[in-house]
Amino acid sequence: MQLDNTVFILAPIYFWSIRSKSCDNICNLNIEPNQISSVSLQLFINNQWQDAVSKRSFPTINPATGEVICQVAEADKADVDKAVKAAREAFRFGSPWRRMDASDRGLLLSRLADAIERDTAYLAVSDADSWVQVFTVCVCMCVHRYCAGWADKWEGKTIPIDGDFFCYTRHEPIGVCGQIIPWNFPLLMQAWKLGPALATGNTVVMKVAEQTPLTALYVASLIKEVGFPPGVVNILPGMGPSAGSAIASHMDVDKVAFTGSTEVGHLIQQASGSSNLKKVTLELGGKSPNIIMSDANMAEAVEQSHFALFFNQGQCCCAGSRTYVQDTIYDEFMERSVERAKSRVVGDPFNMKTEQGPQDQFKKILGYISSGKREGAKLMCGGGVAADRGYFIQPTIFGDVQDGMTIAREEIFGPVMQILKFKTLEEVVERANDTKYGLAAAVFTKDIDKAHYISSGIRAGTVWINCYNVFGAQAPFGGYKYSGNGRELGEYGLDNYTEVKTVTIKVPQKNS
Ligand SMILES: *[C@@H]1O[C@H](CO)[C@@H](O)[C@H](O)[C@H]1NC(C)=O
Ligand SMILES: *[C@@H]1O[C@H](CO)[C@@H](O)[C@H](O)[C@H]1NC(C)=O
Repeated sequence: MQLDNTVFILAPIYFWSIRSKSCDNICNLNIEPNQISSVSLQLFINNQWQDAVSKRSFPTINPATGEVICQVAEADKADVDKAVKAAREAFRFGSPWRRMDASDRGLLLSRLADAIERDTAYLAVSDADSWVQVFTVCVCMCVHRYCAGWADKWEGKTIPIDGDFFCYTRHEPIGVCGQIIPWNFPLLMQAWKLGPALATGNTVVMKVAEQTPLTALYVASLIKEVGFPPGVVNILPGMGPSAGSAIASHMDVDKVAFTGSTEVGHLIQQASGSSNLKKVTLELGGKSPNIIMSDANMAEAVEQSHFALFFNQGQCCCAGSRTYVQDTIYDEFMERSVERAKSRVVGDPFNMKTEQGPQDQFKKILGYISSGKREGAKLMCGGGVAADRGYFIQPTIFGDVQDGMTIAREEIFGPVMQILKFKTLEEVVERANDTKYGLAAAVFTKDIDKAHYISSGIRAGTVWINCYNVFGAQAPFGGYKYSGNGRELGEYGLDNYTEVKTVTIKVPQKNS
């Protein structure tokens, strides 16, 4: 239902039931969807809604039906220039944002978290992915609240340098930060980037993915509502090659933070190198190993490995997409995993029973499934399209996968699980490491020595032991090798939005 060409109506439908399913153990959401709300479909620059300079717009599509939901203004270079100008002005020395007490910055972030909590029902239906989005509302609030707490605790040091000097450091914001976020967790990725940037006093020009612009635009209205000064946050839906590239190569952007593919990460790093050497943090692809030792709790390992790969339709950068299973338990693990995958409910993301919705990279995933068959992996279940409408794929498992196969080397970003067999601990660490990626890894075992051996041997930014996909606003996340640069979340994440300034003052030792 669309009112006119500048707003889209959000009508909450069924949130009472969602609430109990996924949120209660993280935080208590108070969801009261008693009326409809709307989201603006324009660009958000300097706290104002505006059309793109080019007047262009693009369709946003519902992957469950393939239908166009609405048209959204499409930013390109001219709009990025406007947004950067606004962000630069908001960052000017002496501006309201720069003069604001750190505690007040924290307060604004807390109020943003409160507004997000209040409007969970609407956020859940923008860029709808049912309970995954509701779940991310909880986590998103936690991130904003965690960062809010840091705002007035971001301290420098006093340093005892030689001579008659007093030396201290100031931890200052980097400046205008370009942030480019993906579509797989629209709300969460926005929070991971905004929270640390704003807590430390930066200003932001954010490009949001063309597949999922509505969530970010809804949050933009909350940013204005809670009182962030104009220009502090600017939100631009648009395409990578135009708007994204304009941010990455902009001479007046001080830092760019990107989450997405390794391929685009390369381009962003290059654009920084050939423009103004802006700081770059990247959270890129993965091909994360998930290692099941023969002494693991079988039921737990099967369920968690299923979750590790299939969560969010397999559309997670840290998906456990190489499941290494020790030879003595391989057959049993395989049988149980296939049983679990076959019982996975695929369908309408707004139905509470659904575990798996539609895919965003439908054709690419089907291409990987064909390559698995062609290269000789054994198709254990799934392997095809799951509905005659929309972009649904059957939960798929390949067995007898070899390290060299395309499906064992490349990121699939879909519901396709690779199961590989191994014999010894030493062997599996070597093989798990033999990848260009290094985002995450997991091990299932009851033996603490094995857990330590693997967690220290594997080159990855996150290692989970007897669990998977466990995140905390307090704990850093990021990649080794081709999986990225810098860390998000936790104190380390705030560091990556900070410049350190050394101030040295001469202290005369005599009264003169
Ligand atoms: C992975 O780690 C193992 C053990 O620490 C090491 O021998 C191997 O060279 C590493 N491989 C890669 C590709 O990083
Ligand atoms: C991120 O911050 C850490 C300090 O925690 C620093 O060592 C690192 O160089 C930073 N990385 C980037 C890419 O800014």
